[in-house]
Amino acid sequence: MRALSALLTALTTFTAYYVYSPLPSTLSKPWKLMMMDATFRCAQHLSNLAHYVGLSHHLHVLNFVSNYFYQLDPVSSAHLKVTDTVFDGVEVRIFDPDTEPGGTLKRAIIYIHGGGWALGSASMLPPDPLGSYDTLCRRISEDVNAIVVSIEYRLVPNVHFPEQLNDVYVAAKYFLLPEVLARYSVDPERIAISGDSAGGNLAAAVCQQLTGDTTLTTKVKLQALIYPVLQMLDFNTPSYQQNTDMPIVSRFVMIKFWLDYLNGSHDFAHAMLVNNHTSLDISDTVALRERLNWDSLLPPSFKKNYKPVFQTVGSPSVIHNVPALLDVRASPLIAHKEALQRLPKTYVLTCEHDVLRDDGTMYAKRLEEAGIDVTHDHYEDGFHGCMLFSAWPTYFSAGARTRDGYIKWLRGNL
Ligand SMILES: *[C@@H]1O[C@H](CO)[C@@H](O)[C@H](O)[C@H]1NC(C)=O
Ligand SMILES: *[C@@H]1O[C@H](CO)[C@@H](O)[C@H](O)[C@H]1NC(C)=O
Repeated sequence: MRALSALLTALTTFTAYYVYSPLPSTLSKPWKLMMMDATFRCAQHLSNLAHYVGLSHHLHVLNFVSNYFYQLDPVSSAHLKVTDTVFDGVEVRIFDPDTEPGGTLKRAIIYIHGGGWALGSASMLPPDPLGSYDTLCRRISEDVNAIVVSIEYRLVPNVHFPEQLNDVYVAAKYFLLPEVLARYSVDPERIAISGDSAGGNLAAAVCQQLTGDTTLTTKVKLQALIYPVLQMLDFNTPSYQQNTDMPIVSRFVMIKFWLDYLNGSHDFAHAMLVNNHTSLDISDTVALRERLNWDSLLPPSFKKNYKPVFQTVGSPSVIHNVPALLDVRASPLIAHKEALQRLPKTYVLTCEHDVLRDDGTMYAKRLEEAGIDVTHDHYEDGFHGCMLFSAWPTYFSAGARTRDGYIKWLRGNL
């Protein structure tokens, strides 16, 4: 009996310890977020264990778990035709609002889902614990009254950089062909590219590629980036320092997503944590970091007790083994000013409780300095990924407000 109660106490303590993480009071519903985060961590730990004992790649396991909740077949409703098709070899899901035949041309949004280049799907339906991109795209399509093309690009560990970006590029370029736009009754002057998190990274990168392609006849009108991932030169920006262990995406998890995307070994993660991969004794990275003065791009209210982390001597082996670390197609934030000047009108959404807050903020600032018309919406109570959590059982008011604000901007500008 005494052993049992000791065991129960130990289990309760362990569970409380596992679930509890101190969260700032400015976050709405911290307990709910803690429970959700514990569920994610539990799934991650189980998949790491399966990986460790040699059952399967940990990302295959995580995808299997979330696949359990997928409903792969497209489901149309009275006002929305949903179909799966293939654009030049790349799968896409199309959400087409029903409008009268012979009516005016429609607006269109090319959407790229998030999930660390490794998780998620255009066809994910509720009640997926990772949120649902099918639901989000339906909502965007209905509320903006626009066609949404959600790209089902291939994921890590099946493919690595730059394949995810190539898939997005190929599908977007195909959709922008005049005859394809005509087939879907799309107005070539009213097309946006958008994405969240790692999808925001791909959206920003593909926008830079498309606007640099002089053979394209159709120009993208807008880009809308939702808490995008934009750089991996510095994992000690103020937002990385302030939100190191924030739910959904901690700093260490983000570094591992980067390494998986760029096909680098996780052995480098600890060196990258202290910015050893971009130390001042590595000439290539110094040139890139000089192009950007992190300090001048961020408002003082974000910096608080910020101490920049520059190593004078670091670990050059990281860059030698993972050369893609210096590739602008992976880090759109480090693009030349000339590349930024070609970009369309831009929306950037950032959240206070997010390691990636400063990635998005610095990009908005750089675009503004390059003369681009930028709307930067910052949510003080937002956390990474919150836009997906705007319906029961994972409803957060920040989720609904970020989604509604984003849709409002699209309605007004597309
Ligand atoms: C990824 O890295 C592994 C191990 O270093 C290597 O064998 C493989 O060819 C790489 N894959 C790609 C697509 O570069
Ligand atoms: C960073 O680089 C320095 C110099 O090479 C090395 O002494 C240190 O152990 C490295 N730190 C990590 C965490 O890799």
